[in-house]
Amino acid sequence: MAASRPRVAILFGGVSTEHDVSVVSGASIARSIDTDRFDPVYVGITKEGRWLLGDGAFDALRGGGTEGVEPVILSPDPQHKGFVHIESGRLTGVDVVFPVLHGPRGEDGTVQGLLELAGIAYVGCDTLASAVAMDKDVTKRILAQRGIPVVKGTCLTKWMWGVDRGEILSEIAQTLKPPFFVKPATMGSSIGVSKVEDGEELSGAIEHALGFSSKVLVEQAVERALEIEVAVLGNNEPKASVCGQIIPKAAFYDFNAKYVDGTSELVIPARIPKALAQDIQYAAVDAFVAIGGSGMARVDFLVSGAAFYLNEINTIPGFTSISMYPKLWEASGIPYTHLITKLIELAIARHEEKASLTRTIDLLVKA
Ligand SMILES: Nc1ncnc2c1ncn2[C@@H]1O[C@H](COP(=O)(O)OP(=O)(O)O)[C@@H](O)[C@H]1O
Ligand SMILES: [Mg+2]
Repeated sequence: MAASRPRVAILFGGVSTEHDVSVVSGASIARSIDTDRFDPVYVGITKEGRWLLGDGAFDALRGGGTEGVEPVILSPDPQHKGFVHIESGRLTGVDVVFPVLHGPRGEDGTVQGLLELAGIAYVGCDTLASAVAMDKDVTKRILAQRGIPVVKGTCLTKWMWGVDRGEILSEIAQTLKPPFFVKPATMGSSIGVSKVEDGEELSGAIEHALGFSSKVLVEQAVERALEIEVAVLGNNEPKASVCGQIIPKAAFYDFNAKYVDGTSELVIPARIPKALAQDIQYAAVDAFVAIGGSGMARVDFLVSGAAFYLNEINTIPGFTSISMYPKLWEASGIPYTHLITKLIELAIARHEEKASLTRTIDLLVKA
């Protein structure tokens, strides 16, 4: 039995500002993964980008020293699938990696690209879908092309802002109505996001957001928006969970409301009409397909009356047992441990599907 259990590396931490959130998600998965089915190993990435493997990985990332961990690197060579221990040269082979990394250099396709090179199955979206979803500007363009409603707004780069901020501000004044939401294109956890009541505060908010990403979105605020989230699961036939709703106590769902004061309320199912909920579920799956998603994503909407706008797609959503993504599946009939199993199975299925593709044209050349 033991020999046939696939070895699954839970990969958490990371160099992004969402490091701490990732450690909590990773620890939660480690506690609940079905150990009759899988043989878990733990790999923590420190804020400096060192990869540490071992049972002490969670403690090590929480500042508890390096007891029970060894520094490793992921082998990009598919003949040696797994983690090479830097000091001993030993290989810890793995069959599947479960990346639980939020934000840039984890959720944005970079780690996924490394795993592609390594030839190791991994949970969640591939390189392209991850990179698209990490960039809110590119996501919105793809969704708009698909006919999925997105919030009206504009996008500017650090370079454009440096060259002609006057032109940018006057264009915004002519095309968008305040209040505005200003946000970095490639961050999460509401980092760098501000609500701006009028044009006067706009420059400061743009400068602030440009500190986190070289591309910034300025959007018209959806006033008194309901925050509705849907969990999507699957590869070729993705399914949507019931809709959930977040009721933040703050002015909007900012970093504090998400992680610090803990007063935001999660309501499942969302208190919205059934027909609207169905439209949103449909749009969530449609968006997932449009970006080429696989495995999982949490798709977030802003709802105002009967109108809904797709706000963002998170390819590695918060994954503690009380996070929205697992809660939505629990309410839709898939308990937490089973969800983890399902995601690992989906990772293996997609890997096998890819492995069956023709990679060389030897036969054609010989013919
Ligand atoms: N156009 C908008 N209208 C109304 N609220 C918004 C808008 N954009 C963002 N928000 C608020 O800011 C929060 C964070 O923005 P979001 O785009 O989801 O970034 P993040 O990836 O950091 O979660 C949202 O959950 C919502 O409360
Ligand atoms: Mg969000």
